[in-house]
Amino acid sequence: MKTIAFFNNKGGVGKTTLVYHVAWTFADLGFNVLIADFDPQANLSSMFLDEDRLAELWPDGAHPDTVLGAVTPILRGVGDVAEPHIEEIVDSIGLLVGDLGLSRFEDKLSQNWPRCLDRQEDAFRVLSAFYRMLHTAVATRHADIVLIDVGPNLGAINRAALLSAEHVVVPLAPDLFSLQGLQNLGPTLRDWRQGWKERMDKAPDDLTLPSGAMIPAGYIVLQHNIRLNRPVLAYAKWMKRIPGEYQRSVLGHQSIRQTNLDNDPNCLAQLKHYRSLMPMAMEARKPIFHLKPADGALGAHSSAAQQCGKDFRKLTKAIADKCGIKLP
Ligand SMILES: Nc1ncnc2c1ncn2[C@@H]1O[C@H](COP(=O)(O)OP(=O)(O)OP(=O)(O)O)[C@@H](O)[C@H]1O
Ligand SMILES: [Mg+2]
Repeated sequence: MKTIAFFNNKGGVGKTTLVYHVAWTFADLGFNVLIADFDPQANLSSMFLDEDRLAELWPDGAHPDTVLGAVTPILRGVGDVAEPHIEEIVDSIGLLVGDLGLSRFEDKLSQNWPRCLDRQEDAFRVLSAFYRMLHTAVATRHADIVLIDVGPNLGAINRAALLSAEHVVVPLAPDLFSLQGLQNLGPTLRDWRQGWKERMDKAPDDLTLPSGAMIPAGYIVLQHNIRLNRPVLAYAKWMKRIPGEYQRSVLGHQSIRQTNLDNDPNCLAQLKHYRSLMPMAMEARKPIFHLKPADGALGAHSSAAQQCGKDFRKLTKAIADKCGIKLP
């Protein structure tokens, strides 16, 4: 099971949109993909599912078919993680559906983090609930790849979600906020990795637990919609600083290799702002590169949608290379 989380504590940098498009690209390449929406905003679930289906999955009362439903026995203290419902999007894409109520799990995860140091088995069950949910779902779906989407913060839900990931891809925007985000993200990932390592020494032997590797796979820079925003020069300043900051903060390197984005091996892609194609794709509930003339992708839009397919195949290949996934 190859598990990749897309994470940055800076919000709105395109994490969810990336997970959505990368999932479709892997599926188009013949992979069986499982996606986990561990963001309590549940934006990824609403990209995949229409409102009618979401209303069925989120009725008043209990939500047995979401990620919250799967952890509810743990939350109520009456059992272990339940077998998760996997929403089939297409044959090769299964979704663990997000839930706005998932934030209720945050406190439980926080309280149980220190308890692992006292060798409390139930605490390990809480902390590994996401991982064990993924493990079961991968076996059910025979999934090759798991992609995880999370919200923009450094809280306990994200710690548990990230612990489940072997690799972490960092989406960024070329601005001060993203640079500052990296300065928080890197030390936090190291802290979580180290904290989990300490706890693993005290873990029960017979529980399936994550390794907590969280290996940084690289970053993706989402280009701003330059037309609507500030002049290009302002972005150039921040873009110049990204390669060094990533090496320093995320990789923890002492000596920094001077390089620019175009030559930086840690830069997985500089992704275009697809402007009106993105809302068109969201409206059609399709990735941009599946848009058809009937969806409104006519003329220049049609060739831009095809170009987007090429951009995502290139990006997905870069991610696959970094994560040791062999493409056909
Ligand atoms: N490459 C792109 N081209 C055009 N629009 C984009 C692109 N990537 C993201 N967007 C738009 O930017 C907005 C934020 O994207 P998204 O929700 O993916 O960010 P996020 O990092 O997941 O946000 P959050 O931190 O709230 O989870 C959305 O409206 C999305 O449609
Ligand atoms: Mg998001």
